[in-house]
Amino acid sequence: MSTADLPLILLDCDPGHDDALAIALAGRHARLLGITTVAGNVPLPLTTANALTMCEVLGLDVPVHAGSPCPLVAPLRTAEFIHGASGLEGPEHPRHGRSVASHDAIGFIVDTVRAHPGQVWLVATGPLTNVALALRTAPDLAESLRGVSIMGGGIPWGNVTPAAEFNILVDPEAADVVFRAGLPLTMAGLDATHQWFVDAVISARIRAAGGRAAAFCASLLDYYGQAYGRAFGAPEAGPLHDPLAVLAVTHPSLVRTTAYHVAIELTGTHTRGMTVADLRGVPGGAPANVEAIREVDAALSTEVLVATLASYD
Ligand code: RIB
Ligand code: CA
Repeated sequence: MSTADLPLILLDCDPGHDDALAIALAGRHARLLGITTVAGNVPLPLTTANALTMCEVLGLDVPVHAGSPCPLVAPLRTAEFIHGASGLEGPEHPRHGRSVASHDAIGFIVDTVRAHPGQVWLVATGPLTNVALALRTAPDLAESLRGVSIMGGGIPWGNVTPAAEFNILVDPEAADVVFRAGLPLTMAGLDATHQWFVDAVISARIRAAGGRAAAFCASLLDYYGQAYGRAFGAPEAGPLHDPLAVLAVTHPSLVRTTAYHVAIELTGTHTRGMTVADLRGVPGGAPANVEAIREVDAALSTEVLVATLASYD
């Protein structure tokens, strides 16, 4: 497949270990037009620094634009208990001279989508603050985006609370804007991402298969799996949340989706941040607004990940 055949992707993220792997996949399997950063797993200065570090590790010549330092309404909630103080704990980070292209991620998103009408996939793997602000700034984006693929939500369960997943719960108001925008929306929720785990056996394969970048990512995966084990009392393996949102665009045959109407709960005492999917299938329900990933070919997805990381220097 020539580069011209690859999908155009703008990646909005909050690196974060799994965001870092999403960058690696998008860097190889898409024309990655740019990376925009948002506060989420760690505060914005760190998510931005981590995006620049991943571009250095992967040797990507991709602009990084910093975005929103806080959610639309809620106070920022972070996830150092999984990603560590830096947001990318595990390997030693290389020193480099890279810097952000701008602090105007919203303007970059709007300009880039308008420059490629109908072609750009906006893949969002963090809280949806930047995406919501871009849609508010330029409502025409709902028509000119090829689509939006998010990691977020879950049918029906959450991870931060029984009902809410982290990316949605950090900024439910932003998610509400995105889910109501009437755009082609693909959702990799927890029920999908928890079908795809990477453990130490796979990270050892990655380390053995590649060079410096693969070794860096293998160390990220080892730290991430151990953190999940500690946090959730689960086997030491990390679910590849964010990479799935990229694969849904670059390798759509690896997932199966079902269309549902999904609403974002904003006010529930116990359910704020929940992605409320209408699974009833009855006539008269609200029209479907989301293609939710329900099945994942985890084995093939792992082979794509291993081969992709081995392809970097
Ligand atoms: O709930 C998982 C999501 O929250 C992932 O995107 C992870 O990186 C964190 O942002
Ligand atoms: Ca993320």
